[in-house]
Amino acid sequence: MRQEPAVIDVHCHILPGLDDGAHTFETAIEMARAAVAGGTRAIVCTPHHLNGVYKNPGNLIRHALADLQQRLADADITLGLFPGAEIHLVPEAPSRVLDGSALTYNDRGKAALVELPKNVVPRGAEVLLGQFLRHGITPVIAHPERNLVLARRPQRLAEWIDWGCKVQLTAQSCSGDFGERLQGLSRRWLESGWVHLIASDAHRPTGRSPDTLSAARARVVEWLGEEAASLLTLDNPRRLLDGEDLIALAPCITAEKTPAESDWMRFLPWRRRAQ
Ligand SMILES: [Fe+2]
Repeated sequence: MRQEPAVIDVHCHILPGLDDGAHTFETAIEMARAAVAGGTRAIVCTPHHLNGVYKNPGNLIRHALADLQQRLADADITLGLFPGAEIHLVPEAPSRVLDGSALTYNDRGKAALVELPKNVVPRGAEVLLGQFLRHGITPVIAHPERNLVLARRPQRLAEWIDWGCKVQLTAQSCSGDFGERLQGLSRRWLESGWVHLIASDAHRPTGRSPDTLSAARARVVEWLGEEAASLLTLDNPRRLLDGEDLIALAPCITAEKTPAESDWMRFLPWRRRAQ
């Protein structure tokens, strides 16, 4: 059997019974097997937090993770699990991260996975992102390509990137499973150097599965080469787990599609150049 290149998945709903991802340990173990078959060496477990349905405080996630890690060991599955959360961008999100009740990536207090609703950018989004940044926490924007407002007006996302926010695309957007429009958008953003991470956002052992990451990686190799694909699926995920700054891709398409900030934006106190 062909060995898939190694990847680390930084967005996955594998912890059972906490959200709309895996419902049972059996399903979680099936997801783990699919992940390993796709080359995944480690998964950051990112249950929904404060999305209006699920709260999932940090301690609950830590305990669920320890349980599942033990079950994986019992089943002889070699897959590292790390703590995290997918935090809905609501007014209390920054304070929940700062008081430790919402988990940052690998509990390091350096970067947090932040989710927007599908159809809108919430009022005050820029203020909330600014609060994260002012406190030294890097917002990693979960799948902005699937947000209707940002897809129509990517300049707004470019401004966030310019302040220091990072971008995570869903693997299936890149691989084409979510249609040509999302795939084309994902490719343009990758070529613009806007994307820092690709992750599965898996919820199931098949379909929205952890092994979708390997198909996305293969597509990025075609578009941007091996080095870029490794940066987005292995090197930057490692840096995230270690609490280090993420590395940006070099843009490879024309200047008019790269970020340009509004004049007034440059005076915002949290603005800083992306690394
Ligand atoms: Fe998710």
